[in-house]
Amino acid sequence: MLAFRVESAIIRANAYIYFPMNLAIIGTGYVGLTTGTCFAEVGHNVICVDNNQKKVEALRQGKMPIYEPDLEDMIVSNVSAGRLAFTTDLNEAVAKSDIIFIAVPTPPHEDGSVDLSFIEAVSHEIADAMRPEYGYRIVVDKSTVPVSTGRKVYEVINRYAGADVDVDVVSNPEFLREGSAVQDLMNPDRVVIGTNSQRAMDMMKRVYQPFNAPIVEVDLASAELIKHAANSFLALKISYINAVSQVCEKSGADVELVAMGIGMDKRISRNFLNAGLGYGGSCFPKDVKGFINISHQLGAPLHLLEEVERINARQLDHFMDRLREKLWVLRNKRIAVWGIAFKQNTDDVRESVAVKLIRRLCEEGAIVSAYDPKAMETGAKALEGCEVNYCDDMYECTRDAEVLVVATEWKQFANANLQRVRELMKLPIIFDGRNVMHGDNATHAGFEYHSIGRKSLYPKEQA
Ligand code: UDX
Repeated sequence: MLAFRVESAIIRANAYIYFPMNLAIIGTGYVGLTTGTCFAEVGHNVICVDNNQKKVEALRQGKMPIYEPDLEDMIVSNVSAGRLAFTTDLNEAVAKSDIIFIAVPTPPHEDGSVDLSFIEAVSHEIADAMRPEYGYRIVVDKSTVPVSTGRKVYEVINRYAGADVDVDVVSNPEFLREGSAVQDLMNPDRVVIGTNSQRAMDMMKRVYQPFNAPIVEVDLASAELIKHAANSFLALKISYINAVSQVCEKSGADVELVAMGIGMDKRISRNFLNAGLGYGGSCFPKDVKGFINISHQLGAPLHLLEEVERINARQLDHFMDRLREKLWVLRNKRIAVWGIAFKQNTDDVRESVAVKLIRRLCEEGAIVSAYDPKAMETGAKALEGCEVNYCDDMYECTRDAEVLVVATEWKQFANANLQRVRELMKLPIIFDGRNVMHGDNATHAGFEYHSIGRKSLYPKEQA
């Protein structure tokens, strides 16, 4: 029964005595795998379930399906300590675990609505695996879902498990960023727990007690909404500064100085005000769409977010226009692209703006060579059908190029030896789509440097 309604959002540090709990994580994607590993790291007993036998076998042998700093070491050490296990057997996991986390994909449908079929299927499987003799169980939704999904999960479990099964449903959205997932999970800004049951809330707080983070205690629907609203707000910040960057380009102002000036106001903050080619990844594009969609369904349409999407799309269009303006015709132009991943420190190329850019360059007949420190394999798969010369070395990638485009914000691009690049390239032109380089360094190295909304303090003629 959903017995207790939490009346208000209480934010306070947890103060429980810690002891390990038995947890199951269904789905070993980005969120499931990293969350499960971090739970084991703080001492809980964790079983990660995935229906992909090959993936489970590989994980048992310490082979990673994704690149994420620190994750591999943590998995290996927790498996050998006996706190972390991988299985395809969901029944076993449900039998052994007090709390079952659902961390399966929630991809977008064509119309932007969220495909909840994996959530529904797993809820049904959990229900089938439940037995009254197991005692009380909590099912936690970790995947990003539209508001009201938890209520439906609860209905499905009750329908198929039978009334004599004692279960509560909780929403516990995840805010980790790829590339710093372990760091984010181990040191969260806050942990959001949404449930209408005080018993479930108390147990969930015990799970998070070792993390020593502020806990936001809310009802189920509010927790679900917090996730969509948070990601959409961050996307909005990015689109805002990108729109401002275009005004800067037209007016001679510098977007970095503007971001600094407005970001020093604590109410705004400088974070997520980096102008660039726009946001990508597995979350922002999908979550903004999902939030727009549910807002329409609920009759409270978020038109503001539709503009956020338009600005994001325009950012790449505008960049392509500027490239064409410089090179005139892109056909047969040699273009080196640094960066394929959707951002630094990851091999993930889902909704990567860099991938979209490379595809467009290829479609226009440019001769593209590309380099990424981690996303060469994933990138090649995503760019199937495009003729791209993948280079193992970032400098070799620039050989004979007429333009160097920086499409992902990897640190090594910021610190590149520009003299060396200058010697290798045919023409000295850089288009820095992520504002990672120091424009003056590029200018001093003899480059014509183009950025997103920045102006060089020392224009070429003065250098
Ligand atoms: C995001 C949220 O940050 C995280 O809380 C949530 O759990 C999942 O979605 P992630 O997609 O891993 O995380 O990456 P993030 O670092 O947020 O970057 C997303 C995109 O925005 C990237 O393409 C990045 O290049 C872009 N970005 C980010 C900008 O263009 N400018 C910025 O200032 C910040």
